[in-house]
Amino acid sequence: MSQTRRKALIVGASGMVGSNLNILLSNDPGWDIVTLSRRQVPLGSNAQHLAVDLLNAEQCNADAGQLADVTHVFFCARAVETNYVIKLDENRLIVENLLNALSPVADRLEHVQMIHGMKWYGSNLGSYRTPAKESHPRLPGANFYYEQLDALIERSQRSSWSWSTLRPHFICGTAIGSPSNPIATLGVYAAIMREMGEPLHFPAGQAVWTANMNVTDVNLLSKAMIWAATEPRCAGEAFNIVNGDTFCWRDVWPSIAALFGMEAGELRPMSLRAFMEDKGEIWKRVATREGLRNSNIAEVADWAFADVMFAGAWDQTASVVKAHQYGFNEMVDTEEMFPRLFSQYRELKILP
Ligand SMILES: NC(=O)c1ccc[n+]([C@@H]2O[C@H](COP(=O)([O-])OP(=O)(O)OC[C@H]3O[C@@H](n4cnc5c(N)ncnc54)[C@H](OP(=O)(O)O)[C@@H]3O)[C@@H](O)[C@H]2O)c1
Repeated sequence: MSQTRRKALIVGASGMVGSNLNILLSNDPGWDIVTLSRRQVPLGSNAQHLAVDLLNAEQCNADAGQLADVTHVFFCARAVETNYVIKLDENRLIVENLLNALSPVADRLEHVQMIHGMKWYGSNLGSYRTPAKESHPRLPGANFYYEQLDALIERSQRSSWSWSTLRPHFICGTAIGSPSNPIATLGVYAAIMREMGEPLHFPAGQAVWTANMNVTDVNLLSKAMIWAATEPRCAGEAFNIVNGDTFCWRDVWPSIAALFGMEAGELRPMSLRAFMEDKGEIWKRVATREGLRNSNIAEVADWAFADVMFAGAWDQTASVVKAHQYGFNEMVDTEEMFPRLFSQYRELKILP
């Protein structure tokens, strides 16, 4: 472990994962922080911020001098287009541009960590072997996570710094300006159904209703990120990071409905992206009446992301045995997490 003060570079600091890590690290006197994203960090931050477009190699090179004393990189960026389109080439490029710019200048660099997810195992493609384990072989075909990790490993092998990668699933946490997350999306859906005088219908069929699921509390993930980046045994390793329990929508849906003063409705398979096309005015009405932060529905909820979440008619679980064996033993009770996070969204005036 380094004896000197550490300096974190949080890449993707305006996003859900990056902004929550920034909050946790800011409370640790052992760390200095520099944040990087095109947008500012939501809710402000005392850290130095670099507004850089990682798709622009020239800009990365021009700003790299300001990163010379970074010791740990937390790579939490991903290039997502409208309707939750995640392009392979762009996501490889944002890794390559950053590391190519950083490598010649960052003499103190010890570790680069990459946040990936269960798409590593094809969770978005159909039924896969569960619980997913880090030792399971890669799937055939292209995957932006494989491209990113290969680019990272290749550069690590030519350098003195190590790497790690964490695999969370459906990350739940407060986020401003980052709509691709389950809590914001579920909350806006509930508020709109309530405004329409409907119960909280489940927007998918029986198989999704009863599939075994994992999610990851973003605070748990932040703690795991710091642990894996600073624990020497984690160098060159991948870890699944999920709450540690499993749940079915069937069992948590009534209590989520109750948090909005609603009854659970029936199973009504639908595309939320299509259903929500004309619901922007309803959200605007709710947001204005309740004094919420953002009345633009597209900036609070991501319906294409929701359609991916509710398309999973198969078990989506991961083993956390490896993380526990290596020494990360924290867990979160998912049924306790949902009401806690919805309360945080209400306090931040994002949800009613
Ligand atoms: N959300 C989930 O439920 C979930 C689940 C499993 C795994 N993951 C993984 O976790 C990681 C982080 O996810 P997240 O939910 O925190 O994502 P997010 O909220 O969408 O944040 C993405 C971040 O990437 C930055 N970014 C994108 N393009 C950029 C560019 N060209 N230059 C600079 N910065 C750029 C964005 O900043 P600007 O737009 O301000 O530039 C933003 O800060 C991703 O690898 C994702 O696949 C997420």
